[in-house]
Amino acid sequence: MTVQSVRGFHDILGKEAKKFRKVSNTARRILKLYNFEEIILPVVEYAELFQRSVGETTDIVQKEMFVFEDRKGRKLALRPEGTAGTVRAFIQHKLYALRPYVKLFYEGPMFRYERPQAGRYRQFHQIGAEVFGVAEPHADAEIIKITYDILNALDIKDVVIEINSLGCKKDREAYREALLNYLRGVREELCSDCINRMERNPLRVLDCKVETCREAVKESPKMIDFLCDECRKHYESLKEYLKALNIPFRENYNLVRGLDYYTRTVFEAVSDSLGLTLIAGGRYDYLVEELGGPPTPALGFALGVERLMLLLPDEKEEEEIYFVIPFGNVHAYALKVADRLRSKGKVVELSYRKGGLKKQLEFANKLGVKYAVIVGEDEASKGEVTIKDMETGEQKSVKFEEL
Ligand code: HAM
Repeated sequence: MTVQSVRGFHDILGKEAKKFRKVSNTARRILKLYNFEEIILPVVEYAELFQRSVGETTDIVQKEMFVFEDRKGRKLALRPEGTAGTVRAFIQHKLYALRPYVKLFYEGPMFRYERPQAGRYRQFHQIGAEVFGVAEPHADAEIIKITYDILNALDIKDVVIEINSLGCKKDREAYREALLNYLRGVREELCSDCINRMERNPLRVLDCKVETCREAVKESPKMIDFLCDECRKHYESLKEYLKALNIPFRENYNLVRGLDYYTRTVFEAVSDSLGLTLIAGGRYDYLVEELGGPPTPALGFALGVERLMLLLPDEKEEEEIYFVIPFGNVHAYALKVADRLRSKGKVVELSYRKGGLKKQLEFANKLGVKYAVIVGEDEASKGEVTIKDMETGEQKSVKFEEL
């Protein structure tokens, strides 16, 4: 039996690889416009990092992490997301001592043991950005604007940006009590997971995807009604800035996100047609301190590359390819012709295919090349080539030096 790829771990090839690079290049170009600096993070971290940041009671930590022991029995994990590692690095390298605030972005594979389906994999790719050291809501507005710019640059429509505020620690405590009281009343309607985690982390119930749980929380108390004056002002300012930037958004008071570190602003860019979240993020003002750093407000977002790819059209080949076809014993000359064209910045493929002109031109069409560059013994002896425009069929001789 031949060996297959692991379930949920996929190859990305051909047109899909082009879409992957398009998402990546576009996001990187836009992050550069906002002057973010890249951080290249390791794929493996101590499992404890995610337990303490993403949260013990989250699906990600409870069910979805790839955890294993190294030879010394230390518990390691394949990273399920990029925020925790970025915060770890921010603290470890004392980046807070460097500048009043720090803006970082990262790109790479993440790993979650989820049930694979369209747009959901066990190895997927994120591009994310994090801002450390800014509490004011104009930073929140800019983070949301970046996601909006990326969607626009990729010409992805039919996406709604949903926002909510989860308040500060104090607000959350009051809300937690109210929500817990409510949940105890509808306990019978909840799934077993929610019953298990509700006492420890009632907010998780709001994020449950099980239909009966969704129904049961429809009438639950809303976080937004528990915001203190400062958190409310923060949220109102954010909305004002989003309006000033002409970013359409929808308030979703049940949006709590599947990770525990969030405070105040949370947001998601949701595709209604796919029924998937494409980009998500928010504030996590306590996380740096909780992981051992100085108190540092922070926020960020991450996009799912594969999810954005689902909404991109197939692209036509844009590159003008020159296809050099040697006939006879002219390989040295053909190599030089290809080299000369590349030195002029042209994309050149030297044909490795064997066979006569008809077969070669058929193959050239298959590759979608613009010009066939025919190099026969006659051309080689005269120091020329014959260039054929594959679209118009026009053909002419050109001297090597004039290529
Ligand atoms: P997240 O919502 O867990 O947030 O993931 C962000 C994005 O990653 C999702 O919106 C989705 O596009 C993509 N994604 C997640 N799981 C999968 C999967 N199994 N297959 C394909 N794509 C997936 C975070 O990870 C936070 N770290 C975002 C953040 C950054 N918050 C603040 N800073």
